[in-house]
Amino acid sequence: MKLFIGASEECDRKAALEIVNQIKEKPDSVIGLATGSTPVGMYQNLIRMNHAGEVSFFRVKTFNLDEYVGIPRAHPCSYYYFMQENLFRDIDIPADAVSLPNGNAPDLEEECRSYEEKIAESGGIDLQVLGIGHNGHIGFNEPNTPFDSVTHVVDLTESTIQANSRFFDSIDQVPRQALSMGIKTIMHARKILLIVKGADKADIIYKALRGPVTPEVPASILQLHPNVSVYVDNAAGVKL
Ligand code: PGA
Repeated sequence: MKLFIGASEECDRKAALEIVNQIKEKPDSVIGLATGSTPVGMYQNLIRMNHAGEVSFFRVKTFNLDEYVGIPRAHPCSYYYFMQENLFRDIDIPADAVSLPNGNAPDLEEECRSYEEKIAESGGIDLQVLGIGHNGHIGFNEPNTPFDSVTHVVDLTESTIQANSRFFDSIDQVPRQALSMGIKTIMHARKILLIVKGADKADIIYKALRGPVTPEVPASILQLHPNVSVYVDNAAGVKL
């Protein structure tokens, strides 16, 4: 595992460079993407480098980790909307090259199966971007999700609903379910880029990287992945 601890902007810049280098090496890379506040600065770097002609996403395919169940794509809190606003609309990626699980599919179980299949058909994820939740979740894989899980329907925990309510007008509006790649799906990525920011993540990143590998801390499984880069800002890195 490669660990970098430094200024938040350095984390954004270095993480973006890893993605750019991946795409330079393999222009048709399959990239797994994440939402949340953590990757926004990195996405801004990617947009800047795309505009500067340093990288093209024209042949790239992307798969997002997760999506809420039951809110329209056009809803400002949907992850589809987040990705359009924070990355896709500003880079040269073709519209049909981006995939997120469809949280409005009539048959959610079938949607999960077909999402997993679509990832496999693309050749598998070359590089997966991750953040970490306060409870150690990756994607929406909450504590005690089996390590062998693939894309599935998730009942969100109270702590995640609470954390995500900051994006909604009220906590009642936060969906109670989501679709998420499973832990096995994530571990199948050939490379993983974990970004962690803020003093409120100091405890959980310490547990994830230095504690036992346990389903109680889903991100702890990353200790077993052969190719992980972790970018931790100074505030989150105080215990490491
Ligand atoms: P955040 O979310 O980037 O908004 O902190 C991370 C996560 O819950 O995975």
